[in-house]
Amino acid sequence: MIRKCLFPAAGYGTRFLPATKAMPKEMLPIVNKPLIQYAVEEARDAGLQHMAIVTGRGKRALEDHFDISYELEHQIRGTEKEKFLAGTRELIETCTFAYTRQVEMKGLGHAILSGRPLIGDEPFAVVLADDLCLNLQGDGVLAQMIKLYKKFRCSIVAIQEVPHDQTHKYGVIAGELISEGIYRVNSMVEKPAPEDAPSNLAIIGRYILTPDIFDLIADTQPGKGGEIQITDALMKQAQNGCVLAYKFEGLRFDCGGAEGYIDATNFCYEQLYLNGL
Ligand code: G1P
Repeated sequence: MIRKCLFPAAGYGTRFLPATKAMPKEMLPIVNKPLIQYAVEEARDAGLQHMAIVTGRGKRALEDHFDISYELEHQIRGTEKEKFLAGTRELIETCTFAYTRQVEMKGLGHAILSGRPLIGDEPFAVVLADDLCLNLQGDGVLAQMIKLYKKFRCSIVAIQEVPHDQTHKYGVIAGELISEGIYRVNSMVEKPAPEDAPSNLAIIGRYILTPDIFDLIADTQPGKGGEIQITDALMKQAQNGCVLAYKFEGLRFDCGGAEGYIDATNFCYEQLYLNGL
């Protein structure tokens, strides 16, 4: 079964400069909680216990966040403020955190391959923390995908419909609808221009991957933008066997840019924070 979740978190976050000059973009808060913590909570709520984080230079705050801060905790012990750290503390106590560094930025596929020593030879999940996914009505997106994995036992990407003029921002799939919201992928293109896009079904930052993906990535040549793309490795997997695309239930905010970030902040403030969640 799936036990581990990989978080590629080495990127520079250039769309958020200067905020991300000395601070990891994954530490940007949505109201009072950093993006990486929402991502880890989604994985934990899906039953995953082992968090594998691919970091890079200047990302030490991520490791410190999932560690005890004795001085701070001593200061606030017995005060009203203690409750603000309870959620983080619980994650530290119930999950393990392992880190490796991506030394050169050569794309998402390369970042995932850098995490191989932390994952080993087992299926795993991947979460891109700047895609914040929330489902207040039921299971989180990763939990929905894990249910699907139990049935199909193959790699799965989460997808959502996007306007046609937005396809250049995403990996885009085409496939055969096999049941409601589930496609068997037969084509996959990284960031196509609208006229080259096989559909308007865009991959968002949630993946379940079987471990044969690592050898496929290692064999993948740089693609779009000169980077090693997970989309290209997944396309090979789809040709050799099966990859599914799943239209998830819930909301997704692109927190890598100002507009999605502000939408996420307003949503979380109104729906979660004001309700004490
Ligand atoms: C990456 C993937 C892309 C996917 C996107 C989802 O792109 O390469 O296929 O659609 O994440 O957020 P990035 O946004 O890192 O450029």
